[in-house]
Amino acid sequence: MSPEHARAKAPAEPFRIGLLGLGTVGAAFAELLEERAGEIERFNGRRPQICGVLTRTRGDFEEILAEADLLVELIGGIEPAREYLLTAMRSGMDVVSANKQLLSQHGEELFETAREHGVRLRFEAAVAGVVPVVRVLEESLSATPIERVHGIVNGTTNFILTEMDHGSSYAEALAAAQRRGFAEADPSDDVSGRDAAAKMAILARLAFGTPVHLNDVRYEGIEHLHVTDLEYARELGLGLKLIGTAERRGGGLSVRVHPAFLYSGHPLASVSGTFNAVTVESEAITEITMSGPGAGGRQTASAVLGDVVSVMTGGAQAPAAPLALPLIEDVASAFYLHFDVADRPGVLAAITGVLGDQGVSIKSVVQRGMGENARLVMVTHPVLESSLRTAIDRVAEFEFVRSAPRAIRVIEEEFI
Ligand SMILES: NC(=O)c1ccc[n+]([C@@H]2O[C@H](COP(=O)([O-])OP(=O)(O)OC[C@H]3O[C@@H](n4cnc5c(N)ncnc54)[C@H](OP(=O)(O)O)[C@@H]3O)[C@@H](O)[C@H]2O)c1
Repeated sequence: MSPEHARAKAPAEPFRIGLLGLGTVGAAFAELLEERAGEIERFNGRRPQICGVLTRTRGDFEEILAEADLLVELIGGIEPAREYLLTAMRSGMDVVSANKQLLSQHGEELFETAREHGVRLRFEAAVAGVVPVVRVLEESLSATPIERVHGIVNGTTNFILTEMDHGSSYAEALAAAQRRGFAEADPSDDVSGRDAAAKMAILARLAFGTPVHLNDVRYEGIEHLHVTDLEYARELGLGLKLIGTAERRGGGLSVRVHPAFLYSGHPLASVSGTFNAVTVESEAITEITMSGPGAGGRQTASAVLGDVVSVMTGGAQAPAAPLALPLIEDVASAFYLHFDVADRPGVLAAITGVLGDQGVSIKSVVQRGMGENARLVMVTHPVLESSLRTAIDRVAEFEFVRSAPRAIRVIEEEFI
């Protein structure tokens, strides 16, 4: 055998991965890597293998850093994950993370460090689980001027709303989610909308190039929703989802999370259970929707492994230096309104009069008598949220109003 031939046949060095965190996702990642290492080596030439693991009770970060070609952070939270990622990037190492808290609160610091040191920072699993939306925004749509991103980016709340749509109360649906392991014992991050807000901050940065901190995202959760809202909405042809939105509005950017009714022709209307989905709208592409499992150890690990392969094959760089679109808070939406009122003449006229004074015009009304009382359910045309709130506060002052009026946004677009 010639020396050249012998050299060509020599096995390539393994690609060494330092793994921080061996919990739900970390353990699933280690298992998946073991299963897939041969296949990755076959098309990539190098076999990925874990060279060190850090948890609270085992491993040494400095030793892992000295050994590894790539660091995978699956600890979660802010510290020490932030410090480990910054240290690794400053030493010239590529990194992968699934950490939405960290990216939504310290994204610019991490992106800037990645750019400065010419390393890759991949984070597909931080948003929408296994749905490859980060890569699509960073690579496939990087030259497309995006108008709007809508997302169902929290599987726990989507499961709860799906159960409520089948007749469960909020409390029953939450208990079912906890029994099946879809909701934590303390579900507040999910049901308050904060988890979805973190993911929308990350998506907004990718889609619009503007830094968005978690604190910039206005969010509302699902705790206050009633099964009756879903029942009435069904009559109006609407389904209810917790929707994250990032969109251009009047020269600025609006990023928000709230429950919203969708007409059945909207691509997110049929996304049920724990699935996640993201819709990207742009004049050039009209609309594309990606959907898939939103969480779970093995599913998330699969997105992390995709990032590892992306680094091995030289995938995308960190997001470019930021642009600055002003963040807009008061945006126009259509609303679903629900009033419990005394069943007597003049009530409907009094309410529509107050709404009209604030420029709120009504698209459809459902009215039900219930003995002494009645329910009025309306869908409005788009109106600024501030005007709508003023109108609702004034309606609430009428003595014939029996309980606090409820207002839920309606997304009007349909792509059919
Ligand atoms: N679970 C999901 O379905 C899912 C989905 C999408 C994204 N994610 C993200 O994936 C990441 C990991 O989530 P997970 O559910 O796998 O979390 P987890 O089950 O709580 O595991 C966390 C791991 O990190 C280790 N750890 C915690 N603090 C540490 C510290 N100070 N130093 C060293 N190691 C430490 C823990 O060590 P011990 O083993 O010693 O406790 C554990 O091994 C998070 O960023 C999460 O947001 C998770």
